Amino acid sequence: MTPEPAPTVRQLLAFYLEAGVDCALAEEPLDRLADPAPVPAAGATASPGPVRTVPAAAAIPAPRAEPAPAPDAAIVSAREAARTAPTLEALRALLEKFDGCALKHTATRLVFGDGNPQARIMFVGEAPGRDEDIEGLPFVGRSGKLLDRMIGAIGLDRSSAYIANVIPWRPPGNRTPTPQETQICLPFIRRQIELVNPDVLVTLGNPSTQTLLSIREGIMRTRGRWFDYDTGTRTIRALPTFHPAYLLRSPSYKRMSWQDLRSIAKALEQTKSAS
Ligand code: URA
Repeated sequence: MTPEPAPTVRQLLAFYLEAGVDCALAEEPLDRLADPAPVPAAGATASPGPVRTVPAAAAIPAPRAEPAPAPDAAIVSAREAARTAPTLEALRALLEKFDGCALKHTATRLVFGDGNPQARIMFVGEAPGRDEDIEGLPFVGRSGKLLDRMIGAIGLDRSSAYIANVIPWRPPGNRTPTPQETQICLPFIRRQIELVNPDVLVTLGNPSTQTLLSIREGIMRTRGRWFDYDTGTRTIRALPTFHPAYLLRSPSYKRMSWQDLRSIAKALEQTKSAS
């Protein structure tokens, strides 16, 4: 049997990137379970024995000392907090202070929303990725560029559409958010939708669709079908469609996505003439 050729460094890096490993924490591994080095008392002379060097990673802030609230308590406090926000700015400020979701502590920054808060259409994805985490704005990476083109195909852009995610913090390594993390963040995105008050809601991909529309069917069955979405103050129309990241991987579905976009444009026309 011919042995597999060893992967090149480029292939290895591509593999790690694909697996979500996109940032190095330190030059040296750090045993976080080891006993901390004793801190010498002020004025004490250095004790003999092996010198323990502090690896570069020690400079990285340690996780918070105080425990995060239990998930159920966090869901309750998220619900209570979200409903008190009278404006989008207040909601953003609440999220900046909210400590109930552990994702906040691994993300670089909050990714709240982008676009026009007065827009008649709102797009909601799953969670920010690496580029969004760096910039603090949703859908700015590769899939964001495609989303911009999709929105552009129906004559809109970020000045006439509003974009957000169910989860406003990047899960580490782009892992799938846990059901608990999703439930904790849900009251905030619900309130965000209520405050933007669009005529049409577009859920991008399965997680956003299933979470916001409370349905179990997969995106292959739900895309292109209209659902009612209760914002809390009124019922609006909601359409699931493919996530742009999925379209990048499976471009043959762009044809269906185009049909969904036509349907969205038509609904916007109808709701405009009805109002
Ligand atoms: N994928 C998402 O679901 N949201 C983003 O903001 C970026 C990628």
